[in-house]
Amino acid sequence: MKTEQREYELEAAIKTEKVPRHVAVIMDGNGRWAVEKGLPRHEGHRQGVETVRSVVRHCSEFGIKVLTLFAFSTENWKRPVREVNYLMSLPVEYFKTELDELMSNNVQVRMIGDKKKLPRRVQKAVDDGFEATRNNTGMILNFALNYGSRQEIIMAVDGLLSDAKEGRIKGKINEKTFSRYMYTAELPDPDLLIRTSGEIRISNFLLWQLAYSELWFTDVYWPDFSKLHLLEALYEYQNRKRRFGKV
Ligand code: FPP
Repeated sequence: MKTEQREYELEAAIKTEKVPRHVAVIMDGNGRWAVEKGLPRHEGHRQGVETVRSVVRHCSEFGIKVLTLFAFSTENWKRPVREVNYLMSLPVEYFKTELDELMSNNVQVRMIGDKKKLPRRVQKAVDDGFEATRNNTGMILNFALNYGSRQEIIMAVDGLLSDAKEGRIKGKINEKTFSRYMYTAELPDPDLLIRTSGEIRISNFLLWQLAYSELWFTDVYWPDFSKLHLLEALYEYQNRKRRFGKV
């Protein structure tokens, strides 16, 4: 009852016109959640998918335009093979079981990251998910898979250099030109970054794009992240002063 009451209060206090356009999330703490319960780590990831389902639904309801979820980093390949395999099975499973709900909520699926190095079945699941939802006009659900921000920046520089060599770039390079070479080319920068599990760092996530984002951290592990926590983050975001370097 207390939780419901607080959710109700926060939901009433949130101004729809000030909802962040783009929310990015570092979903951390699955492993610790499981280990503290005496469960194998993959149980934490399994429960983490349940949180993904609920956060996607709520963000879409609140009118958020883009939700980017950090699901697998370029560094996560260093985990034990069994865990990597389990993590790779999640997008495949998710797109299979969630497609109907994504369609009925008008959600469009995309991904950022180095797709070519993902297993074929994951590439196919992402491509199929994109194809099936491409005409949806509601929230963009953007999965960061095999994503690393430094890799993305190097890829962008590489693309820029080769276009410059071919004479396809006129004039000087500015921030707008550079952004067009990133995975996030068509997306607005995140307004709000959420990281769970008590870690206070960015971990090679959207380094360029987070330049002016509001950062919000919570000790809660991702599998326990609920609607209430999301509302708290949105409420705090709306009550911060974003100055973008001005006074
Ligand atoms: C970090 O927790 C989390 C990950 C590396 C994976 C996150 C993935 C999900 C939540 C599921 C993604 C869902 C879909 C549909 C693709 P950790 O394992 O590093 O936790 P720890 O720091 O406690 O060990």
